[in-house]
Amino acid sequence: MSKADTTLLDVRAQFPCLDQKVHGKRLAYLDSAATALKPVYVIDAVAHHYTNESANIHRGVHHLSEKATAAFEAARETVRAHLNAAHAHEVIFTSGTTDSINLVAQSFGQLEIGKGDEILVTEMEHHSNIVPWQLLRERTGAVLRVAPITDNGDVDREAFRAALNERTKLVAFTAVSNALGTVNPVAELTREAHAAGASVLVDAAQAVPVQPIDVQALDCDFLAFSGHKVFGPTGIGVLYGKEGLLEAMPPVKGGGDMILSVTFEKTTYNALPHKFEAGTAHIAGAIGLGRALEFVRGLGYGAIEAHEATLLADALNALQSIDGLKLVGTPANRKGIISFLIDGIHPHDLGTILDQEGVAVRAGHHCAQPVMQHYGVAATARASFSIYNNHDDIDQLVAAIRKAQEIFR
Ligand code: ALA
Repeated sequence: MSKADTTLLDVRAQFPCLDQKVHGKRLAYLDSAATALKPVYVIDAVAHHYTNESANIHRGVHHLSEKATAAFEAARETVRAHLNAAHAHEVIFTSGTTDSINLVAQSFGQLEIGKGDEILVTEMEHHSNIVPWQLLRERTGAVLRVAPITDNGDVDREAFRAALNERTKLVAFTAVSNALGTVNPVAELTREAHAAGASVLVDAAQAVPVQPIDVQALDCDFLAFSGHKVFGPTGIGVLYGKEGLLEAMPPVKGGGDMILSVTFEKTTYNALPHKFEAGTAHIAGAIGLGRALEFVRGLGYGAIEAHEATLLADALNALQSIDGLKLVGTPANRKGIISFLIDGIHPHDLGTILDQEGVAVRAGHHCAQPVMQHYGVAATARASFSIYNNHDDIDQLVAAIRKAQEIFR
């Protein structure tokens, strides 16, 4: 049996990072929305590459280079299958979600977006799905519009529809909010955007780890995600794009591997996906990402979703039993990400005390300052859950919060 064919029963044992004490306490890692821990299955794949086939790809004729190239392209095929993309060359390896969105902003932006054209985002976006569009706005005179969220933390659907118009060239939104846990109706939002004639980019950084994605069923034009949030290495990510769009889009980085021929007078570009992959790729990262997606498939999204739903329900119940705790956002449909405040304790102080109790949460604005502005706060504490979390983690979180309250009483 491959290690990917595992079940959630023995999943914790596969994450060596869990096997340690923090400040003398059991580790309750509740920060998977920031980055997921890595299973041995992925760590071994990365180590295997550097140990046995550490060579550059697409260039060498020698044995190691051929092995590394085959492993790298096999990882691309794994990503294709995972997303149900029509072609492997629709999968561009990038350094992560941020890099993927910037690629679209620069390249699609150059191709399609001019003065007065509109880009629509939602109020719940991560900075990486806001700032690239502001940079594009500065370059082109385009207009950045924002669909507001309700106080529950859902996209205001009426306002979203009202913001769409004949000038809207691109609608860019997250599938799952990193700050609120909101699950957006990606297919419906995409349909509405397409009906207005706009292309669609989906930020799936928080979604790929927790729910199946089928880019053909969703019909999105672009989709971005990061390896490190889905149990893979840092520094690797994916931009999926529809073939026709990617073919038409200009490259944004020049260098090795993205060219067919170069003279000082003229350069011709390589075919997809290489046109967008200048320079030596993060080869070990891509291989590790392929392994991470195999690992996810081995677990099965059904098991992942069921586990997370149970943990989320129990965590919400437990947290709401704490006097002075206020949830920030109560979206209709959410994943295992909970933002909260404790009366009289700044989230950073809370995070520091929780850390002393072995509990890792994120405290801050979560790279989503407009969400904080919506709720009139500077920061929240955020607990996020993954497949390796269990009820002991929730108990430890609750006990640590009560301890913080005692300290501040
Ligand atoms: N985007 C990551 C988070 O939400 C870093 O924490």
